[in-house]
Amino acid sequence: MKVLVIGSGGREHAICYKLNQSSRVEKIYAVPGNAGMAKIAQCIDVKIGEEQYFEKIKEIVEKEKVDLTFVGPEIPLVDGIVNYFNDNGLKIFGPSKEAALIEGSKIFAKEFMDRHGIPTPNYKVFEESKYAFAYIKGHEYPLVVKYDGLAAGKGVFICKNEEEATQAISSVLDEKIFGRDNQKIIIENFEKGQEISLLAFSDGHNVACMPSSQDHKRIFDGDKGPNTGGMGAYSPFPLVGTQLLKEIKNKILFPTIQGLKDEGRLYVGVLYLGLIKNKDEVKVLEYNVRLGDPEAQVILPRLETDLTEVVEACLSESINEANIKWNSKSCLCVVLASEGYPGSYKKGKEIKGLDIEDQIDDLIIFHAGTKIEEDKIVTNGGRVLGITALGEDIFKAKEKAYQAIKKIYFEGVQYRSDIGDKAYA
Ligand code: GLY
Repeated sequence: MKVLVIGSGGREHAICYKLNQSSRVEKIYAVPGNAGMAKIAQCIDVKIGEEQYFEKIKEIVEKEKVDLTFVGPEIPLVDGIVNYFNDNGLKIFGPSKEAALIEGSKIFAKEFMDRHGIPTPNYKVFEESKYAFAYIKGHEYPLVVKYDGLAAGKGVFICKNEEEATQAISSVLDEKIFGRDNQKIIIENFEKGQEISLLAFSDGHNVACMPSSQDHKRIFDGDKGPNTGGMGAYSPFPLVGTQLLKEIKNKILFPTIQGLKDEGRLYVGVLYLGLIKNKDEVKVLEYNVRLGDPEAQVILPRLETDLTEVVEACLSESINEANIKWNSKSCLCVVLASEGYPGSYKKGKEIKGLDIEDQIDDLIIFHAGTKIEEDKIVTNGGRVLGITALGEDIFKAKEKAYQAIKKIYFEGVQYRSDIGDKAYA
């Protein structure tokens, strides 16, 4: 079969990597792809969000006789690419626009959780800064300010005091840093605890959980600095044992899938639960409607079952029969980012040392913001590479990933040195 993957990040490289292992897949296309994906897929340059991008991708699918399209990022899902493909009789994996709203609007997600009794931190919605400023006066800190719409992980501000909260509110509601269409925020109570990423394949009625993982969202060591798309991850997360998993399924995952179904938003695709576990309870911080990035980079290398079979089980409402197998190794990924990320950064820096991948067993270099320029691989984004290693345990995987990083270089490279340190905290 021929499969087309939409996206250009480390997550999409991990999807292509897994599809490339399938004996059923004869050719992979990536739109637009990156320098790493170009080694295993034919990359075609249609930018996500450009004018008529649905139509352009559909043209490729029809011309190349693609059998299945796998959507990596959230923007096409929230924009409704699955509805568009289904209306045109084309096979695509991901939730519909109606179901994807659970990521597309944080306010919708919060109100959905309220309707279905799903635990989530307390919050208030604001459209005008003057009411938000009044609310934060004298409030307990930290406090979390979240932009309602999509912001590539950068719309969440964890504010240590009133000054930071005022700045966050102002930037979204007055300066409109995320554009003018959607001007709403949530102000959410901060919850202490361990963040957990739990992802599941859903066929709309039933789910198959993937192994647990933990992301590292802040830019600097010790969870300092602004939020990013994710600076590293590992799987499994030992905190998520049988009992906690049961609680997450019964209190969160099943009610979410059932609630979406009851509201006429049947959920087919990957559902990502961003959770916080304190000593008493586990709550939902956010829903995402696709594989996480970098979580995909530590989960997919552990998948033993053919990814196309899992996707087909979701699309044919038979995920319960899929019998998905995962290997027992641990996997850890460290993201190498450009200087300045998650703020502005320069592109075009030559990347050296990538051949280390051939010298270390079970090391995978997933590309994100990279491109080929005059026979060189250069940086082309904020998050550039995901240095991913498998090992018998998290310590061994970590050692291997950081050993490889010593050999990889581009000007201004930044990364966290503490990925995995909270695994047994
Ligand atoms: N790693 C966070 C996300 O994928 O949204």
